[in-house]
Amino acid sequence: MLSSKVEELMNAQIEKEGYSSLLYLSMASWAESKGYPGISEWLYAQADEEKNHMLDFVHYVNDWLWKAVIPVLKKPTASYSNVKVLFNDVMSHEQFISASINDIVAMCMEERDFTTQNWLQGFVAEQIEEEASVQAILDKLNLVGEHNMYMFDRDIVSMRNDSSSEDTA
Ligand SMILES: [Fe+2]
Ligand SMILES: [Fe+2]
Repeated sequence: MLSSKVEELMNAQIEKEGYSSLLYLSMASWAESKGYPGISEWLYAQADEEKNHMLDFVHYVNDWLWKAVIPVLKKPTASYSNVKVLFNDVMSHEQFISASINDIVAMCMEERDFTTQNWLQGFVAEQIEEEASVQAILDKLNLVGEHNMYMFDRDIVSMRNDSSSEDTA
């Protein structure tokens, strides 16, 4: 059933996925300028993935006879005091996105839009993977400590390959 309340939240999600992409792009650029090629590669790839999420929402909204709105995005933070602060921000942001997806699922149930609710399950599963992969990075950062960023920067690329092979959404 077409619900304008669900349409509104789906459009808000287009904006959030777009902002995720910009945020990770900004983080990638910071990491690149600080001389962390591995971390920046991980973040550039993450930015691409978020742009694809945004497009998934745009296509779904238009296919479902609503109207997708392409938003103006706010400017993301351009600098970070260190890599750990950056990845803590990634984690907070992914938790915010997970909560947002759950809110849309709840609204779909209220509005009896079971088609969209079903479509969103791919994103519910994706968010579990995203949070788990960022948690693995934070655990690794704690292990190597602040003085061995060379090793962390080298290892993070393979950590992405491990998780992205299972990506579906
Ligand atoms: Fe996303
Ligand atoms: Fe994400």
